[in-house]
Amino acid sequence: MFVAANRFRVIPEHCAAFEQAWLTRESHLHELPGFLAFHLLRGPAGADHVLYSSMTFWASRAAFEAWTRSEQFRRAHAGAGESKPMTLGPPQFEGFEVLQTLTPGGPA
Ligand code: HEM
Repeated sequence: MFVAANRFRVIPEHCAAFEQAWLTRESHLHELPGFLAFHLLRGPAGADHVLYSSMTFWASRAAFEAWTRSEQFRRAHAGAGESKPMTLGPPQFEGFEVLQTLTPGGPA
């Protein structure tokens, strides 16, 4: 499993609009092979921003990379960075290989 995480530092007065844009978007992630889950996370508030992270769980790094080359990725980002910035700078990407997963079901 592979986790693609993007950190956004959102300017406090734009938080409501940022959340609204994400929560009401038309997502096409479910169309992609290897897509497992998506979470939009709101984290701690700093002096000049609130931290958000988008986390997408993929079956493999290859499945994630295929999405970044897809028409769905292109469309999801067609407008990104166009309007008045809601964030301090561009998002910061971090990719993680999952080494261990535990679930409430306990060991198989
Ligand atoms: C490897 C880099 C990136 C990854 C992994 C990533 C991840 C994602 C994901 C998972 C979505 C949701 C797509 C869907 O639900 O169909 C998305 C949409 C979006 N991303 Fe990215 N992204 C990347 C680069 C960027 C960059 C560079 C920007 C800003 C300049 C950006 C800003 C946005 C915005 C604004 C949306 C759409 C929110 C809306 O619909 O209003 N992303 N991204």
